[in-house]
Amino acid sequence: MTNGVEREQWGSKLGFILAAAGSAVGLGNIWRFPYITGQMGGAAFVILYLILVFVIGYAVMMAEISIGRKAELNAVGSFRKVKGGPWVLVGWMGVAAGFIILSFYAVIGGWTFKYIFASFTGLMQAGAAGEAGDYFGGFITNTTQVVALQALFMVTVVWVVYKGIGEGIEKYCKILMPALFILLLVLIVRSVTLEGAEAGLAFYMQPDFSKLTGEVFLAALGQAFFSLSLGMGCMITYGSYLSKDTSIPGAAAQVCVLDTLVAILAGFVIFPAVFAFGLEPASGPGLTFVTLPSVFSQMPGGSFWSGLFFLLLFVAALTSAISLLEVVSAYFIDELKWSRHKAAVTMGAIIFVLGIPSAYSLTGNLNIAGKGFLDAADFVASNVLLPLGGLFIALFVGWIWTEEARKEITNQGEKPFGLIVPWVWICRIVAPLAIGYIFFSGLKW
Ligand code: TRP
Repeated sequence: MTNGVEREQWGSKLGFILAAAGSAVGLGNIWRFPYITGQMGGAAFVILYLILVFVIGYAVMMAEISIGRKAELNAVGSFRKVKGGPWVLVGWMGVAAGFIILSFYAVIGGWTFKYIFASFTGLMQAGAAGEAGDYFGGFITNTTQVVALQALFMVTVVWVVYKGIGEGIEKYCKILMPALFILLLVLIVRSVTLEGAEAGLAFYMQPDFSKLTGEVFLAALGQAFFSLSLGMGCMITYGSYLSKDTSIPGAAAQVCVLDTLVAILAGFVIFPAVFAFGLEPASGPGLTFVTLPSVFSQMPGGSFWSGLFFLLLFVAALTSAISLLEVVSAYFIDELKWSRHKAAVTMGAIIFVLGIPSAYSLTGNLNIAGKGFLDAADFVASNVLLPLGGLFIALFVGWIWTEEARKEITNQGEKPFGLIVPWVWICRIVAPLAIGYIFFSGLKW
């Protein structure tokens, strides 16, 4: 309940799916997935990623949505309401992860502004890949500009969260997500027809399983949670606005499939081009931002398409960032009875300040034990907090809250779910063991 008024709900089932997919599809798919795949050696990582998404990710997503829909509260409040005790800490950990992820996410979100502007104004005439790399390097080390754009991004996020669920979040996702999808398809055609693209396709599609180390497993798990927006109560929060008669297994499946599709498509744009232009697939966070301008430079009307693409990437980033701020804000709204306005503005401001070290670290001057501040924040959130959050959520529904979860997932028995028994066992045994094992064997700074 927000201040005695009836709690807001999504306008429709489609509204929820698009908003949840809007949360899931973001920089994680188009910026993070390609560069992590590049660092982790390509196809074998991708296969592992797919398995983790559809076995563990899907199960945890249903668990989160069911907790949220039952409790109709934020991540912390939901755990308190359905069980209480130490489980509330899982919600807390989620809110903390939200602060960290959004802090650096907004920095990358700010990059998209620069690239929209530079594309449309023709400043970024990146003919050869080397030029695109120089351009990118020059841009990210200009901290004043990067922070200004990060601020602009945060202001936009706050503005949408401020407007509330149906009016803000839902409206924007409905129109712009399909556009992004179509543009990706066009880009794939351009990328795979570049001269020398085959090597990229091989890197992306021919697995070399000798590359699978513990570190690669953890990276795949972290990427799965990050990309699906899992492990920090985001889907609990979004599930809390979901109507009681929507099918949770169906909605969760659609979100998982959409999210995965976008990531895989992004890879088909990036890797053929990376190899065609002789770039280094393991070059890190700049990969997408260096590769894409080179692809666009090979297209008629490239500046226009480039601008359009980064505009849609911005929107994808925005809908994800909104969900991160929503997790944090919903806590202050539900638990501390803050107004939505106060929560969004105050938390937005704090998260902006928290992100400044990440922005500054791009100059290479702010490292924590050898990792740049941004990379370190990402690592702690994605490879530690999210997997642990997912582990506890799985344990919770697998062992403690099983009957209630079953009821919620089948809409009190009205909508039977054929995989309910495997789902319970995945939450009970498979996910906890897999996450626990991957976490302890792969954790390497
Ligand atoms: N999934 C988003 C992306 O791929 C990022 C994101 C939004 C997220 N909400 C989240 C990540 C919650 C982890 C948890 O860009």
